[in-house]
Amino acid sequence: MLSTESLVAQSFLKNQNRPILPQSIYAKRRQEFLARLGKGVAIFASAPSLIRSNDTEYRYRQNSDLYYLTGLTEPESVCLLAPEHPEHKFVLFVRPRNQEKETWEGRRFGPEGAQAYFNADATYSIEKLDEELPKYLEKIDLIYYSLGQDSRFDQRIINQIKYFRSMRRRNGIGPYVVIDPIEILQEMRLIKSPEEQELMRYSANIAAKGHIAAMEQVKPGMYEFEIEAIIENEFRRSGALAPAYNSIIGSGANATILHYVENNKQLQDNELLLVDAGAEYEYYCSDITRTYPVNGRFTKEQREIYEIVLSAQLLAIEQVKPGVAFDDVHKVALNTIVDGLLDLGLLEGDREEIIKEKKHEKFFMHRTSHWLGTDTHDVGKYKIQEESRKLEPGMVLTVEPGIYIGENPDVPIKYHNIGVRIEDDLLITNQGAEILTSAVPKQIKDLENIIGRRI
Ligand code: GLY
Ligand code: MN
Ligand code: MN
Repeated sequence: MLSTESLVAQSFLKNQNRPILPQSIYAKRRQEFLARLGKGVAIFASAPSLIRSNDTEYRYRQNSDLYYLTGLTEPESVCLLAPEHPEHKFVLFVRPRNQEKETWEGRRFGPEGAQAYFNADATYSIEKLDEELPKYLEKIDLIYYSLGQDSRFDQRIINQIKYFRSMRRRNGIGPYVVIDPIEILQEMRLIKSPEEQELMRYSANIAAKGHIAAMEQVKPGMYEFEIEAIIENEFRRSGALAPAYNSIIGSGANATILHYVENNKQLQDNELLLVDAGAEYEYYCSDITRTYPVNGRFTKEQREIYEIVLSAQLLAIEQVKPGVAFDDVHKVALNTIVDGLLDLGLLEGDREEIIKEKKHEKFFMHRTSHWLGTDTHDVGKYKIQEESRKLEPGMVLTVEPGIYIGENPDVPIKYHNIGVRIEDDLLITNQGAEILTSAVPKQIKDLENIIGRRI
């Protein structure tokens, strides 16, 4: 049995030093999932291919759960995990080989190739799904399936359930309970193994490189999409499949729109630029935000707002360690932001009152953190029995407070169109937390030094 260290070491591609997960990791995950399942059959369908326009498609991205359990990235595939089956505990359905289709659309594993590569107990052509699936379901009680992700595939499962409803009346056996496997999977996915941590680190490094490149090249007169191009160039050339989400490159007033993605405005002197961009590398996401002046110098008001957000973020990060409640990270950030806005006179009254009445939400309207992993907003419960969850080693979360001031008539004009968010990705360790994205400058003096230095 190889040690974890040697598995991680082995997983690096020699020529590029890019980490990938060996198949043994997926096998280990399936073992754990099968053990937690105990009974029934779990069914995971691939994500549908989506049309972008006419007959061209969006770049394909596999369903996160199917990927997590198999590493299979092909569309039109299905994975069954069947703990009660004597031999076929891991079954794959994939597209059949087809020379003409492969010439037009790309290579396929085919059932034989998939069997060899993924070491499945049985593989079939996806065309045989409706014929073969009932054989795996007819003697069990439980189906584990996540309804509501793909309505066309849902209908196929519903057809099976309808069929087995009548069979069960006749034979007294067959599935009649449908359970969402997310309850099991989200707990597994929430805690990142050492191998996954390595991928998260790499994904964070790619994103950090992109942000640093943008800072070095930014100057007034450029367009937001040029910044997007600089950043995404680093992502792709480092092996990322794509940005983890549409990059948010908002200058001036656009920085106050949380999910601004048009990215088509020209950067003006004296504006702040908010850049929220992360990479998806081998299905692991990073998520970084930095905000800085386009010309390299903060104005007085920009600096005032920035310093509040920065101290909120630094104090919140200090909280992040095992045993601390997820919500307490937000509370520290929120208190700091409200105190800062009170000092500037942008909020009035008592801190606790303001928070209770949600008056801060006109400036800080989102939460401070979310889980991060195979999905940018990763799976995992934030509360257990209504209590905020305690952080544990292996969890990864963002810390991303912000202040957004639009053209609010209640606020002096000098603060208008200032939007600031600062976001880092943190891995909980046994001792505290590792800031995966710490390479990207965020102190004012460091930003002022780096901005525009490669123009
Ligand atoms: N970029 C999405 C987020 O920060 O949650
Ligand atoms: Mn985020
Ligand atoms: Mn973000």
